Amino acid sequence: MKLGRLNHIGVATPSIDASVAFWRDVMGATRIGAPFDMSAQGVRVCFVETPGEGGTAGTQIELLEPLGEASPITSFLEKNPQGGQHHMAYEVPDIGAAKAWFEGQGKRVLGEPRLGAHGTLVFFLHPKDMNGVLTEIMEEPKGASH
Ligand code: CO
Repeated sequence: MKLGRLNHIGVATPSIDASVAFWRDVMGATRIGAPFDMSAQGVRVCFVETPGEGGTAGTQIELLEPLGEASPITSFLEKNPQGGQHHMAYEVPDIGAAKAWFEGQGKRVLGEPRLGAHGTLVFFLHPKDMNGVLTEIMEEPKGASH
């Protein structure tokens, strides 16, 4: 498997509006996307971009607010009411090859690859198999600048 760049860090929050204000006013972020719903995943999402080298986009912060009754973020917020770091997402060139690679090492893949917030296929790996970090593997966006 070829490991790509760290695409984003997922951060759970009880309020995207409050988190956006934090990133803008406290952290000085200037590139903040519009929030959008991903109903199938049970999350409302907003991306904050950190600057990369030479004016390119750097690693993003993916703000995640629960959406609906069965949101995977709800139980996380019960344990961490203020929110907090939820997962880390790495790009790979080939999602199928990456899935086979991790499965070959006995790592638990949580569900089948599905469409992620960047419009490419993603899957998650169980944190207990990944040094305690819920890990998202995503196919790198084709022709994208970030
Ligand atoms: Co993510």
